[in-house]
Amino acid sequence: MDAHFIYRRLHSLTGIVPVGLFLIYHLYIQLYLHSGAEVYNEVVNSFYDSPLALWVLALIVYIPLIFHSVYGAMITFEAQAQPNYHYFAHLLYWLQRLSGIGVLFFIIAHVWNAQLGPLMADTWGTHFEHLAEGFADPESGLVTKTVYVLGVLGATFHFANGINTFSITWGIALTPRSQLRMRVISVITFLVLTVSSFYALAAIW
Ligand code: HEM
Repeated sequence: MDAHFIYRRLHSLTGIVPVGLFLIYHLYIQLYLHSGAEVYNEVVNSFYDSPLALWVLALIVYIPLIFHSVYGAMITFEAQAQPNYHYFAHLLYWLQRLSGIGVLFFIIAHVWNAQLGPLMADTWGTHFEHLAEGFADPESGLVTKTVYVLGVLGATFHFANGINTFSITWGIALTPRSQLRMRVISVITFLVLTVSSFYALAAIW
């Protein structure tokens, strides 16, 4: 087994476990925006009460995400036209790469906006107020909202379409029938995650 094969499999696996599972958990937490500032801040802050929180974040989220992103960016730059793909599969192939790069920029902006900025300004903990004020800002609010909508859309598409490509990478869906089933699962995942995230954002729109 060569190193490229192992890295490729690790890249594929980290997209689902743990990064994909974290994405689902993270988007679920955002539904608490509808419960108001007090509940939302408590739900988010309670995670950080644990002395293991930073270790969990580093080992389960940041390290796998950095690996997936760096290797994903390398795969993106090696990408080339796939003459044996039909039009729709080709479109998804390029959208998977484009959304990966978009999500990378979004995650950097999001971590800066939601974590590092408030930490440096010593306002960390009032997450609801910080998000709501950012969205309502008369000068930059529209840009912030647009970045969040595109970032969420990119992430839900990338993960949902990734479920389908993951099943191909691992040889899980080999027959046309099972491939159709994976595509249906992928479309349903995309719709559920996107609708739920936009509903969450509507609370502070
Ligand atoms: C929210 C964060 C992310 C999640 C949940 C995620 C998830 C996934 C999943 C499940 C796959 C399918 C794996 C496969 O085809 O075997 C995948 C593929 C891919 N990801 Fe990500 N990913 C994320 C972020 C990124 C970032 C930041 C990049 C790069 C800049 C990236 C680049 C790629 C590429 C290029 C593929 C296609 C691999 C291929 O077709 O062989 N991903 N991702």
